[in-house]
Amino acid sequence: MVTSRVAPRLHPSLLRRMEEARARTDNLFELLPLSTLYDRPIPERHRLIFYVGHLEAFDGNLLRPALGLESRDAALDALFAFGIDPVGGDLPTDTPTDWPSIEKVKKYKRGVRDSLDEALSGTRALHSSNSELADGTLLHVAIEHRLMHAETLAYLLHNLSTDRKWHQGSAKPDWRSSPSPRQLTIPAGMAALGRARGDAFGWDNEFEAYIEEVPTFSIDAFPVTNGEYLKFVEAGGYEESRYWSPESWKWKSGAKVEQPQFWARRMTSSGDIVGEWEYRAMFGRIPLPLSWPVYVSHAEASAYACWAGKQLPTEAEWHRAAYGSPSGTESNYPWGDAPPNRTHGNFHFEMWDATAVDAHPAGASAFGVLDLLGNGWEWTRTPFAPFPGFRAFSFYPGYSANFFDGKHFVLKGGSPQTDACMLRRPFRNWFQPHYTYVYATFRCVEE
Ligand SMILES: [Fe+2]
Repeated sequence: MVTSRVAPRLHPSLLRRMEEARARTDNLFELLPLSTLYDRPIPERHRLIFYVGHLEAFDGNLLRPALGLESRDAALDALFAFGIDPVGGDLPTDTPTDWPSIEKVKKYKRGVRDSLDEALSGTRALHSSNSELADGTLLHVAIEHRLMHAETLAYLLHNLSTDRKWHQGSAKPDWRSSPSPRQLTIPAGMAALGRARGDAFGWDNEFEAYIEEVPTFSIDAFPVTNGEYLKFVEAGGYEESRYWSPESWKWKSGAKVEQPQFWARRMTSSGDIVGEWEYRAMFGRIPLPLSWPVYVSHAEASAYACWAGKQLPTEAEWHRAAYGSPSGTESNYPWGDAPPNRTHGNFHFEMWDATAVDAHPAGASAFGVLDLLGNGWEWTRTPFAPFPGFRAFSFYPGYSANFFDGKHFVLKGGSPQTDACMLRRPFRNWFQPHYTYVYATFRCVEE
């Protein structure tokens, strides 16, 4: 009885996906020389060594109780259990010597992985009475958590100087011009947010299904490009407090944010600014690619929108522009119901960097809105909050609920480093408004 309930879910596709996800994150760590593993590329995040241990610690802490396994190293399970997301400016102060040696962490990683694999492929999994193991939920959580960290790792590595990582080919300049901005009118209609509880996996914040009425609005056909954002920078947008909320202005002034995190000025060898803007691609600087989406924080996106006399979309507006249609129906993806492929957008680790916002016409929505999935998450002005009927995962109560604080905003879409499985319609991402490192862009609306 138990065997027949468990076996079809655990074998073989979920275990195979777990292997693929492990290969994805293992390959990212391979980009790092050993001397880099104790670097902290982003001040608000842990040193890289944390992530080597974290992925296995998470899997072990999640799966061991369901499999009836004992911890072999409770101290490391605890050390690597949780990442950090300080919102008040309190940055971590640990030093490299506060962390275990790489040999010890790799041994821990191997031990956790081996013990889980043995249990998952053997009788422990078959005889577990844990219903969330049986229905595949726990493995989905482990797989998607790891794939989300593949994206986190990518933007952490992006922020390392190029001499701190192994090159995977040089960044190539992209001279395409920014397409002319235009707006599309989206008539009033429904946005079917969230999802009903059923067979398919979703994170706790995706539930339940929730209909929102959306009045008529117009939305940018493309995300705001580096070329369009440059006009805001050159108009003095970073020097005028009137475009910024008081809180964002205080943050911007204190942190001395004067340009997007991914931009840099060209310098001479003696350190003098030459003038032209450059772009910090994953493996080197290139002239600012004007046709690529600009990657900025929510605060910077909101300031641009204010300068342009517009605003960021709500989650429901973005959803309607992406999945709605003139006939009133909704599709699974902007382009229809076909599974995502590389003609639809820049996602699933196909490229290290962004591409032009008009490079994927096959990904257009029924309303003609382009570049919605991939090429950069898109900020909304909707604070991250539960849908009616929300229930936290009992095995991971803080996954979403810890961030329902009014200090995080919903992002939709996906980036070049987002696995295709997370391009599903109800998937929601969220970040605090002053986080500049993520592959996040935006487009504006007028109501
Ligand atoms: Fe994590």
